Amino acid sequence: MRLNFIILALAGLTAAAPSIQIDTDANSQELADRAAAAWPNGPLVTSGRYIRDASGKNLTYAGANWPGAADVMIPEGLQYQSIATIVGKVKSLGMNAIRLTYAIQMIDEIYSNGGKDITLQKAFTQALGATNGPKVLAKVLAKNPEFTASTTRLEVFDAVAAESAKQQIYIHLDNHISKGMWCCSTDDGNSWWGDKYFSTANWTRGLAYMAEHGTSWPALTSMALRNEPREPTSSPSVSSSSYNWQSWYTFIKQGAEAVHAKNPGVLIFLSGMSFDTYLTPIVRGTALTPGTGKFSLADFPGYANKLVLEIHNYETSANNCNNLKNNLYNNGFQAHTTSAVNQFPVMLTEFGFQMDASTWKGTYASCLASYLPAEKAGWFIWVLAGSYYIRSGTQDFDEGWGLLTRDWSAWRSPSYVNGALTTMVKNTLS
Ligand SMILES: *[C@@H]1O[C@H](CO)[C@@H](O)[C@H](O)[C@H]1NC(C)=O
Ligand SMILES: *[C@@H]1O[C@H](CO)[C@@H](O)[C@H](O)[C@H]1NC(C)=O
Repeated sequence: MRLNFIILALAGLTAAAPSIQIDTDANSQELADRAAAAWPNGPLVTSGRYIRDASGKNLTYAGANWPGAADVMIPEGLQYQSIATIVGKVKSLGMNAIRLTYAIQMIDEIYSNGGKDITLQKAFTQALGATNGPKVLAKVLAKNPEFTASTTRLEVFDAVAAESAKQQIYIHLDNHISKGMWCCSTDDGNSWWGDKYFSTANWTRGLAYMAEHGTSWPALTSMALRNEPREPTSSPSVSSSSYNWQSWYTFIKQGAEAVHAKNPGVLIFLSGMSFDTYLTPIVRGTALTPGTGKFSLADFPGYANKLVLEIHNYETSANNCNNLKNNLYNNGFQAHTTSAVNQFPVMLTEFGFQMDASTWKGTYASCLASYLPAEKAGWFIWVLAGSYYIRSGTQDFDEGWGLLTRDWSAWRSPSYVNGALTTMVKNTLS
């Protein structure tokens, strides 16, 4: 990719000034270095509803979710393709970002293991068993020969981060779950602070760890506190005592502080209740019930210009675009308008649907394809993954919502990806 980049830079230069001859390696290397040093032009900050880079230019994300929070706890797909190939697929769509997910359990195990993460050998065997674990690992190593069986999971994340920087893809790092597994249901023990696997202390420790570790990733521009907070139905006492906006605010302030203290550069994304489907009381500045307190930017001293709202939407059977737009507005996108008490940039960090020849032509997909670019709102489609190492007990799980085919080699719905999706990317980033 480095090579392609230099060629592009040279092509641009010669087109503008055809008489200039770039004839030494030193010149082309210098050009490439200068451009690479400028990107990502952070730290990013917010200004009202916009995100701005260090030069004051506004930007947003148009990208895909790349999960790495399930049982093996490394980014998916590496038994089929190299990291460079996968990042290149994202880049080829014109996308500028990935939402990379991780599990808090990975950091818990680093602490239990004397500060060093466990090896791929151990991670694959733990997750896929003594027979399949080593087999799948062998495929990962064949496709990604820079790794060995003793490479750690965190080093795989580092390699994804390095490749993303090389191809100029922003990383939005998302704490998806506590225990590494397929997410999310209300009874999976990961639902809400205090649920079976969701220790608040482990969570803030994990956020702080990744925030600090992420200072070595040039591509890292934002971190999300927690994916899809939801009612902990298998922990009734937690549910009745704290599944509410008042407690939500207590927890997210702790998480935001944990991230900001270790990495003041990153934007911090806040996700709402009920599977992150709405953040209305934050936008409208109404009481955080059952208390009477309200959201206040003053509660984020020194980093009020680092906060972004994220919601998810899976109203896949929507049959009226205006209704869907009204829902999106009421659930969070009102924060883009002057009618909001608290203005923020808002992103739709998950939406998705079956990747086939026709679903993308339906109301849900086509409505989002016009609404999000019109709003200049950032988004991440669920999901890049054509398959998972394991999902809910099934190994090599084929993902029908995946942009990629099971072996991550081609687009599952070329008509969508090469048409509406790339147009949506272009319209969002233009
Ligand atoms: C950048 O800001 C301008 C208004 O200042 C707006 O028209 C444009 O859509 C914004 N672009 C993005 C990507 O946010
Ligand atoms: C928190 O992390 C420790 C390791 O430091 C681990 O033993 C414990 O099980 C974790 N708590 C939860 C609820 O996962």
